[in-house]
Amino acid sequence: MTRVLSGVQPSGVLHLGNYLGAVRGWAADQHEHDAFFCVVDLHSLTSDYDPAALAGRTLDTATGLLASGLDPEVCTLFVQSHVAAHPRLAWLLECTATYGELRRMTQFKEKGGENESVRAGLLTYPVLMAADILLYDADRVPVGDDQRQHLELTRDVAIRFNHHFGPTFVVPEAAVPAVAARVMDLQEPTRKMSKSVSSPLGTVDILDSPQEIDRKVRKAVTDTESEVRYDPAAKPGVSNLLDLLAAATGADPASLAPGFTNYGGLKAAVAEALVELLRPVRERHLALAADRAHVVGVLAAGAAKARTVAGPTFERAMAAAGFLAPAEGYSG
Ligand code: TYM
Repeated sequence: MTRVLSGVQPSGVLHLGNYLGAVRGWAADQHEHDAFFCVVDLHSLTSDYDPAALAGRTLDTATGLLASGLDPEVCTLFVQSHVAAHPRLAWLLECTATYGELRRMTQFKEKGGENESVRAGLLTYPVLMAADILLYDADRVPVGDDQRQHLELTRDVAIRFNHHFGPTFVVPEAAVPAVAARVMDLQEPTRKMSKSVSSPLGTVDILDSPQEIDRKVRKAVTDTESEVRYDPAAKPGVSNLLDLLAAATGADPASLAPGFTNYGGLKAAVAEALVELLRPVRERHLALAADRAHVVGVLAAGAAKARTVAGPTFERAMAAAGFLAPAEGYSG
């Protein structure tokens, strides 16, 4: 059985980009593969964050994953910082990656990489992500389009490590969905939907009420023409709406366009489709949020399972790199 691993940052409630670009696919993957999913809380430290909110956001994100259909009876769901091997392997891999390749990462540049005061962790972050993946011998990593470059780096690091120290890691492949791999901001359709950057009107959360979804879609920025046509370069706002409708209904975005004579009709259809798509997710989320202890228990069991896979991989990597193993093992 192939192994799948993916992760999401603890930004709180998941947004529609996370859901369509990644998490909805995870819920399908878990039935076909040996699947591991983690809330990557250590990644929060790469930029300003509120320590008082981190634990709550981590739990909210895990709740969102369960609400989106991850079944802890079928997959393994855990928090990155609960498995000590992640930052430990990251150090070995950091010394395999180069400053030049990390500096060239698009997300690093977008987040102000040239700025002297940027945290060193923002530069090395993709290596921690590589550790997240390589620890689990993952064959397949289901992610949105924005993570493709990080997956390429993960592959390069794994190949280089294997070359230097002998076969140690599985070299993973990215799995990016055919539709909605890059959901755009509803207010700024040339920018991807993102909790940290977008205005609240530009982002749909999986917890938004039907009224909120309707309001946000109706206020979505389009263009000054009136023709509904799928053309992401020339008509990013309209094309994003068609992508959303396609993702929600399983259709092809270009073939949906001729069915609409104006933007109002398209927006009404998108709002209705998203309300129906997210209704069960929202209901499950509200129910799970009332049972915090259940989510905490799922994460504890998930971390215990994750350690049984990550621990031996970490030991294998340490041995390959020539370290003297502690007599009592590396678990402490
Ligand atoms: P993150 O937390 O930004 O996003 C989680 C997942 O959601 C996808 N995504 C989107 N897809 C489509 N449209 C959007 N607007 C959109 N916004 C987010 C992302 O592509 C991602 O799949 N570095 C990762 C987290 C990570 C990880 C890992 C992923 C850490 N370790 C190991 C896979 C494997 C990130 O910041 O994702």
